[in-house]
Amino acid sequence: MVAMAPALYSLIRKMEIIRKVDELRHRVAGAKSEGKSVGLVPTMGALHAGHISLVDRARNENDMVVVSVFVNPTQFNNAEDLATYPRTEEADCAKLEAAGVDVAFIPSVDEVYPEPDTRQFDLGEVAAVMEGAMRPGHFNGVAQIVSKLFSIVEPTRAYFGEKDFQQIAVIRRMVELEGFNLEIVDCPICREDDGLAMSSRNTRLTAGQREVAPVIHRTLAASVDWAKTHTLEQTKRFVIDEINSFPHMEVEYYEIVDPLTMQSLDNWEDAVNGHPVGCVTAYCGKVRLIDNIRY
Ligand code: PAF
Repeated sequence: MVAMAPALYSLIRKMEIIRKVDELRHRVAGAKSEGKSVGLVPTMGALHAGHISLVDRARNENDMVVVSVFVNPTQFNNAEDLATYPRTEEADCAKLEAAGVDVAFIPSVDEVYPEPDTRQFDLGEVAAVMEGAMRPGHFNGVAQIVSKLFSIVEPTRAYFGEKDFQQIAVIRRMVELEGFNLEIVDCPICREDDGLAMSSRNTRLTAGQREVAPVIHRTLAASVDWAKTHTLEQTKRFVIDEINSFPHMEVEYYEIVDPLTMQSLDNWEDAVNGHPVGCVTAYCGKVRLIDNIRY
């Protein structure tokens, strides 16, 4: 299909806000019965340019675009993180409308979970390490909400950002387990001018922390050169020590992993499924930031 500029698109179409599951099912079924392809962009709101880049891609590749805005409680293993997660519905809707989205799906928690979701997914090794190890239950919660959204929308394609590199691997595993017939599209990380990976959590940084936080990407980028003449272990040490040397910063983990299995590598030569990926989680003050780089 021919891509249309978002401004023009939003002039001729008004975005629908749907809050009920049945209404969304009905709306999408209508589009599909006309042979339309449907792109889904799952989000937790507090939208930034990174999300909009996913929307733009979805709009260019599908006849209809649905964006879900839902802070999913089952993927939070920390009550304070859930309570303080930014919620900016009005601003989100304005951005989605301007980006030419057809439907914003903004359900309540009761609408999505009329009963507690007790499903336990066998997500295997990709979910057991890094975020999976640090945030028990997190990926099961992600699998619960994403599988629900896939069942409701039955999208042709679904779009996810590579900042959450491990999450994409987990979602692919869930898709395989559940037998969903759709394409998972991974989209590059969007960065601020100073290199900080865009994240809804960045708004929680103080001015001083915001100034320091780009050290995460700066160090990862520098480590790619460093890696050419150092062992994998030395490269990990370099990244951890460098980031930790800055005020406010504390690395929770830095792992250099196989891009498919997410398992930590001991040596550069052990990478058999493509370029190794370095995945970092670091606290900047109380804000937990993640990023990654391909070697
Ligand atoms: O990446 C996120 O924002 C969330 O984990 C997702 C995929 C929208 C599920 O709640």
